Formats: sequence, structure tokens, C-alpha cells
Amino acid sequence: MSRAADPTGLRSWSVGANVQRLVTIGIELTNDTTHDDEKRLAAESAAGLVESGMRVGLGTGSTVGYFLPALARRELDLTCVATSLQTADAATRLGFSVEPFDSFDRLHIAVDGADQIAPSGWLVKGGGAAHTREKVVAAAADRFVVIATADKCVDRLEPPVPLEVLAFGVAATLWRLGGAERRGVDRSPDGNIIADYTGPIDDPEELAGRLDATPGVVEHGLFAPTLVSDVLIGRGTRVEHRSGLA
Ligand code: 5RP
Repeated sequence: MSRAADPTGLRSWSVGANVQRLVTIGIELTNDTTHDDEKRLAAESAAGLVESGMRVGLGTGSTVGYFLPALARRELDLTCVATSLQTADAATRLGFSVEPFDSFDRLHIAVDGADQIAPSGWLVKGGGAAHTREKVVAAAADRFVVIATADKCVDRLEPPVPLEVLAFGVAATLWRLGGAERRGVDRSPDGNIIADYTGPIDDPEELAGRLDATPGVVEHGLFAPTLVSDVLIGRGTRVEHRSGLA
């Protein structure tokens, strides 16, 4: 996927990896169109769930990059909070009112992408390193809607699981996890280190509990099914709607 094909300039590592694979096996980038169409379909479907007057949480990533213009085209009266500076910029450029997330205690809806979606409903998020703010926003939303392409649906979750870790004691925190490494990206907007847990994911619930209980781990990218209301998957020319457990 070229930057020109991305409506907001937002990209995540997973999309970059797909492009890399296509380039490696010699398929023209235009063959990525179906993938982009799946993003657009899921994004447009999610935009249809938003109503005027809502407080809306805006996720991060290239699929959200399709959601923002789809939502803007609906010309609704909305108040938004953004999960990343990139999304805040893109949303502001599209004319959305983006507020700091410090005074609303609830959001009506939040829409975000995912890196992996398991049959059990567990997600891995954080390919764009925004998972901490994304989880705070998802947890604050009455309805958390995940939008993704069909390739994000996996039989079982695989590492890495993104981490946000306190800078103080970061080496000790990663050592304690026994299989974690720093990612070569900027710190989070909250000043923390971005890393990845690289060990096995035998049981997402057990691993999420262990990560939650590890001192120094600010947040991890495992999202429980209980956070998720709807999953909208662009699959070819249609949208598959899975209801979550939230
Ligand atoms: C960012 C995220 C993204 O939602 C996730 O990486 C999916 O991105 P994309 O829509 O580009 O595939 O969790 O932290």
C-alpha cells in the first residue's frame, strides 16, 4: 500500500509488512486493492453506526484511516477523542472537533482496528504503539467496534504482544517477562517505552493477567472479548459482523 493510497497518511507496521511481502514475491502493489477495499468496507460500515450528538473515540491505524473520511462524509455533529497524535491530526484536518480525553467519563462509541482477532474474541492490538490509549478509550465506550480486514482473523494469537513499559526500570521489567524486547520506535505520548512480549501465547487470559500483574508494565495489547461489542470484518466484497461479548 503506497502512502498515496492511504487517505490520511496513517500506516501501521502490519500494512507495511503486507506490502513488503507483496513486493518480495513480485506482485504489483495494485493487487493490494482488495485489501484496501476490505478496510474501506469495514470502515464505512462502522461509520454507519455513529449518530449525531455522540462522543466518539477514534482509534489508530490504516483501517481507521478509512473510517475517518467515511465518518466525515456523514456530516454529523460529534465530539471526538483520539487515541494518537496522528489520528488527532487527521481528524482535525477533516473538520472533527477533537477534545482532550480528561473531562468525559464515558463515550458513546469507539472504533478501532486490530492486528489479530482470535475465534474466542481476544484481540492483539498495538501495532501502531497506541494500545494504551486505545484500551482506555475502548473501556470508556458503551460500544467498542473493531474494524479489520479478513487477514486479521487468525486461528490462534501469535506473538508479539505490544507492551508499553515505564522507562524507570525498563530493563528489569523486560527481563522479568522473560521474552520481551524494546521496539525501535519513539516513546509513547505519555513518555513510556514501547516494547513487545515475544514469548508464547498459550492462554491469552492467563498471559493478560500476568502482564497486568507485572510491575512496570503500563499496558499491553491483549484486549479481552468483554471489551469488544462488535467486530466488522471486510471479507472480499462484503462485511462480516461478529457480535462481541461486551
Ligand atoms: C495501533 C493499532 C491498530 O489499530 C492496529 O495496529 C491495526 O492497524 P491497521 O488498521 O493499520 O492494520 O492497534 O496501535
